[in-house]
Amino acid sequence: SQTLDTPNLISLVSTKLNFNMELPSEWLEPIVRVQTLSDTGSPVIPDRYIKPLPQRPSFNIQSDSQNIPIIDLYELTKGSATAQKAIMDQISIACREWGFFQVVNHGISGELVDGAREIWKEFFHQPMEVKQNYANAPKTYEGYGSRLGIQKGAILDWSDYFFLHYLPSKLKNHNKWPSQPPFLRGVTEEYSKEIVRLGNLLLWVFSINLGLQEDYLKGAFGGDDIGACLRVNFYPKCPQPDLTLGLSSHSDPGGMTFLLPDEHVSGLQVRKGDEWITVKPARHAIIVNIGDQIQVSWGRRAKVLTNGIYKSVEHRVIVNPDKERVSLAYFFNPKSDVLIKPATELVTSTKPALYQPMTYDDYRLFIRTKGPQGKSQ
Ligand code: OGA
Ligand code: NI
Repeated sequence: SQTLDTPNLISLVSTKLNFNMELPSEWLEPIVRVQTLSDTGSPVIPDRYIKPLPQRPSFNIQSDSQNIPIIDLYELTKGSATAQKAIMDQISIACREWGFFQVVNHGISGELVDGAREIWKEFFHQPMEVKQNYANAPKTYEGYGSRLGIQKGAILDWSDYFFLHYLPSKLKNHNKWPSQPPFLRGVTEEYSKEIVRLGNLLLWVFSINLGLQEDYLKGAFGGDDIGACLRVNFYPKCPQPDLTLGLSSHSDPGGMTFLLPDEHVSGLQVRKGDEWITVKPARHAIIVNIGDQIQVSWGRRAKVLTNGIYKSVEHRVIVNPDKERVSLAYFFNPKSDVLIKPATELVTSTKPALYQPMTYDDYRLFIRTKGPQGKSQ
């Protein structure tokens, strides 16, 4: 039998990727707002939202104790060296075993967290004409959108969203952020600043946990030129939640994600082996997960050293018949033109690189063309 060695695997993957892709300037078919569909009150969803059987959610009863780890960050910056080490160890275990955890006492005030969520909920409750002013296009995805992926005839997810850039500063454009409700831009600006602080803190923690220089990952991400962008997800009520998903299974393409979940409505499910675990958010918690870029850079090392892997774990969102849900997903990404590849010191002739070098720009283009596809990318 023939084993697929790594170089072959890489060329196999390369042939599947077409780096000369370009995204169209307009969507290839008319955009339908899921919120509008939901508001009609129809008891059935259109065929386009019905998932094939194996992808449909199961609403199995889950024991109360099943949840992603909850980590209190208070002592990380304020505690003794011993206390600090204990928190770092919790993070290390969560990264290896789950790829997902929630943090509390993260330094972002409960008021700001609630305020950011509420003001974005208000945005989606404005009249459609107001939101349509920000209608997005596949080229940059910035603005008000209702689909991920461009393929004509694709089966769609039951959600709308708003996508905006915060970093690098040259991509930030307040005119592309909603001007209403009045305080939205200010609150989003303040929340973004805090997320970037938290992101830098965790890059520092991950670097130390992986036995690297404390500023290594930050450097590998492009130093102060990292990317930070926000997708606010809006999941309207759905009359047939057992047939569809709010967001199909995917792993996040970037570095890491900070998700502010809805306080009242659960919906995020994380894959653990063959199971889907529904996340139960703690009050004012922020959910952190590892993205594909950290898997590429560090997966191999983690595997060698810890017999576990820092992996970018699959997740999805289920919807609800009588409750809408809103979440703020902040993507913390490498600078878009830095080549992301396994660390040189970890690659030898007997342990070849598992991934080909690729910029985040190219990778994202690929993802944006295809939309959510589990872990296939
Ligand atoms: C995402 C995501 C989860 C959620 O936006 O990538 O996984 O709960 N969101 O909305
Ligand atoms: Ni995600």
